[in-house]
Amino acid sequence: MQDFLSKIDKERLPSHVAVIMDGNGRWAKEKNKPRVFGHKNGVTSVREISEASAELGIQYLTLYAFSTENWNRPAAEVTALMTLLVETVRRELKTLNKNNIRLNAIGDIDNLPKATKRALLAGIEETRGNNRMTLTLALNYSARWEILNATQKIATKVENGQLASQDINESIFASHLETHSMPDPALLIRTSGEMRISNYLLWQLAYTELYFSPVYWPDFRKNHLYEAIVNFQTRERRFGKTSEQLSSPA
Ligand code: IPE
Ligand code: IPE
Ligand code: MG
Repeated sequence: MQDFLSKIDKERLPSHVAVIMDGNGRWAKEKNKPRVFGHKNGVTSVREISEASAELGIQYLTLYAFSTENWNRPAAEVTALMTLLVETVRRELKTLNKNNIRLNAIGDIDNLPKATKRALLAGIEETRGNNRMTLTLALNYSARWEILNATQKIATKVENGQLASQDINESIFASHLETHSMPDPALLIRTSGEMRISNYLLWQLAYTELYFSPVYWPDFRKNHLYEAIVNFQTRERRFGKTSEQLSSPA
């Protein structure tokens, strides 16, 4: 595989990269191993991609770690995933601090198992002074839940007279989402060849460039990320305009 790092234009990096880490189960199955073996090996990819993103100068990396729909998986797999999360957050804290990475979470965190929530909040607290990159884990996350939740918060403000309904605009709406402190993702990467959004960041992905990699998540390495970024940099983000308008702004 060619070296993609040298082809990246460091001046035009996506400020926010979102990832749907997919294919752990199939990766394990191909090796005649239990699905959980795939999840465990996926942690190596999380470490690699977080480190590569911070090294490049990407400011926000948001990883889909557990969707609300994932509660429907076999109980043993769910338990293993939650345990893995606790272990990983604890084990990686030192590295996060060494790399000046701030940990963050989006999703229905209050309804996670107590131990998971506790480890997560401790990790967030212990890294809050870091400012090279924000690593956000989407956990017990569902974009429709997030949008409904924002709508309820806004409705309450309208009821209380804190907000007039005619003043609700995109920026006010976005400020009530879980991602309120981040820019929208410029690039979304989904691994494992699946081409769907699976209830991820539905509002925020409105103008995101989508990149689908055939590689299973546990095999996804730094150079795969670099390849995605090189591909991203070949795209023309038109935001509704014509190509001519972009090359000679009137
Ligand atoms: C992604 O891999 C990890 C999670 C959803 C937690 P999968 O577990 O979905 O792997 P596949 O899609 O079954 O191969
Ligand atoms: C999406 O992957 C959720 C995560 C990566 C955590 P899934 O593997 O759960 O998605 P579907 O169900 O195949 O769409
Ligand atoms: Mg999957």
